[in-house]
Amino acid sequence: MIQFDNVVKTFGNRHAVDQVTFRVDEPQMVGVIGRSGAGKSTLLRMINRLTPATSGQILFEGTDILSLNGSAKRRWQRDCAMVFQQFNLVPRLDVVTNVMLGRLNAQSTLKSMFNIFSAEDVRNALAALDRLGIAQEATKRAEELSGGQQQRVAIARALMQDPHLVLADEPIASLDPMNAKIVMDALREIHERDNKVVICNLHTLDTARNYCDRVIGMRDGKIVFDGAPELLTTDVAREIYGADENFNEAATSTAIESPDLSVRRKDPAGAMTPVAVAAV
Ligand SMILES: Nc1ncnc2c1ncn2[C@@H]1O[C@H](COP(=O)(O)OP(=O)(O)OP(=O)(O)O)[C@@H](O)[C@H]1O
Ligand SMILES: [Mg+2]
Repeated sequence: MIQFDNVVKTFGNRHAVDQVTFRVDEPQMVGVIGRSGAGKSTLLRMINRLTPATSGQILFEGTDILSLNGSAKRRWQRDCAMVFQQFNLVPRLDVVTNVMLGRLNAQSTLKSMFNIFSAEDVRNALAALDRLGIAQEATKRAEELSGGQQQRVAIARALMQDPHLVLADEPIASLDPMNAKIVMDALREIHERDNKVVICNLHTLDTARNYCDRVIGMRDGKIVFDGAPELLTTDVAREIYGADENFNEAATSTAIESPDLSVRRKDPAGAMTPVAVAAV
């Protein structure tokens, strides 16, 4: 599905992402962890072309997405929906219009300029909001909602794009544990029900363990771990975070309770293809 080949991103002489190679061959929920500055956001932002790569290739189903231009690039950006830590909604617009903005790249410039949406767009937006459990907020302005509700609106907007893959950059970093759980459950549900690849940058180990089929650990721009969450021992975590023997996992915890069984990660012995551990 998606494949990174020796991808490098430099800022000046700093390697933010350094020779990264990995592939996702099936609809997995992938968590990317690592300390601040490890390169997690840069990795994600290169996928949807928000940040240009310095060298290397990123292939999606055989297409080199780094060479797309013009309308092909815009179509690709619609195909990979992005969820941000700070939601990125238009605060003064109502919720349902914010969700419909997920359709923007799919319609003419003139229609988008005047926010002209079809009745079907409205129906689909309301269905997406309903799926996230916030249809009753549809007519409120986005700024009137709590952070957790706003992030659910952002996920509904992502759904509206009908994306090939969902990229989430620290989607729960600004949320309290209860809202964090609702948002992670929603991302997991999109992965399971819609069979989408979800790649999610996470600050916290417990969230990655609870929700992801596969965890990629980054350190100084490099992948230092790539494997099933069961293999993410405290020693491995210490290596990823570059911590000493006093490393305490609780320091990276969000204290989210285990997710609902209905959205629990697939049993590793089940349908998932086991993933290999890279150099640790
Ligand atoms: N626009 C930029 N200009 C210069 N340097 C940048 C830029 N964006 C990122 N960097 C640098 O690239 C490296 C990786 O940054 P990145 O934001 O990808 O890390 P991160 O793992 O997402 O960190 P955090 O957990 O704090 O979000 C850091 O050293 C950062 O300072
Ligand atoms: Mg980041």
